[in-house]
Amino acid sequence: MQSRHFLTIRDFSPGELRELIALGIEMKAHPERYTQALEGKSLAMLFEKPSLRTRVSFDVGIQQLGGFSLYLSPSEVSLGKRESIADVARNLERMVQGIMVRTFAHSIVEEMARYSHVPVINGLTDFSHPCQALADFMTIQEVKGRLSGIKLAFLGDGNNVASSLLFTCARLGARFALGCPKGYELKPEVLRWLEKDGASTADACLITNDPTEAVKDADIVYTDVWASMGQEAQAEERKGVFRPYQVNEALLARAKGDAVFMHCLPAHRGEEVTAEVIDSPRSVVFQQAENRLHVQKAVMFSLMR
Ligand code: CP
Ligand code: NVA
Repeated sequence: MQSRHFLTIRDFSPGELRELIALGIEMKAHPERYTQALEGKSLAMLFEKPSLRTRVSFDVGIQQLGGFSLYLSPSEVSLGKRESIADVARNLERMVQGIMVRTFAHSIVEEMARYSHVPVINGLTDFSHPCQALADFMTIQEVKGRLSGIKLAFLGDGNNVASSLLFTCARLGARFALGCPKGYELKPEVLRWLEKDGASTADACLITNDPTEAVKDADIVYTDVWASMGQEAQAEERKGVFRPYQVNEALLARAKGDAVFMHCLPAHRGEEVTAEVIDSPRSVVFQQAENRLHVQKAVMFSLMR
C-alpha cells in the first residue's frame, strides 16, 4: 500500500480498499492461515475515548495474527498534556510495531503519524472512523454481493462515521445520501474533498434535509448516535433536532424492499433507531461488528508485516 498509516479512507485507492476488503473476507474464511503472520509483534492501543468493539477487535485481532496488544487508557498517557504528541509517538515507535489511536481532533493522529516510523491506525477521531467504514463495506459485499452501484443512505448527523462512509462510497463507486437536519451536514473539508478529488463521484452524492428523499431507492439504511463522544452536553438538544431522522419501520419502508439496516453501534433504541428495526432480520449490525475483527486483521497484516 502507498500509505504507511491508516488515517482516513480517502488516502487509499479503490484497488487498495478492494484488496483490504477481499483480505478481510479471506481471513474470516481461513483464520488458520494467518496465525503466525505477525508473530511476536506488538500493537499499542491508545484510547482517549471509551470503546467496546474497537478495543476488543484490535486486541483479539492482533492475537489471532500471533502478536499481542498493550492497552493504554485515557488517564495513563494523556496525549499532549502529560507529554507532547510527538514525544509519545517517538517513544512508542521504539518499542512497538504498530500504534492504534482513538482520540478527539484528527490532527492528533496526523501528528502521531508524522513522528512515528511504525504504522499509526485511526481507531476513530472526531473527523473519521475508517476501520468502521471498511468493515461496513466488507459487510455490504457479503450481504449484497457487490459494492459498485449500491445506494447507502445515512440518516442523522453528518459526523465521523458519515464522512468515512462517504469517502468509501466515492472510492468504490457506490452512491451516498445524507438525510440530516439543517446545520448538521458534512464538515466543509469533506465537501471540498468531494468537489476536488471525489469530483467524478460528486454527482452520486446527495445531501438533503428530507429523510424520505435520502432513503428513496436505498440498498442500505444506516444511522449512528445523534450525539457523538465528546458531544454529551448537546445530547438533550439534539434529541429534538434529530427526531424526524429516526430510522423506524415507516422510514425503512420508503427504501428498497430488500434494503438492510446498518449501525456502527453503540445504538440508542428509541432515539436514532427503533427496536423494531435494529432487532429485525433486516438488521446486520452484529455482522458489521464482527467484521471489524476480520478487516482490521487485514489492515494490520498489510501495514505491520
Ligand atoms: N463502532 C465502534 O467503533 O464501537 P466502539 O466505540 O465500541 O469501539
Ligand atoms: N459517531 C460516534 C461513533 C461511535 C463508534 C462517535 O464518534 O461517538
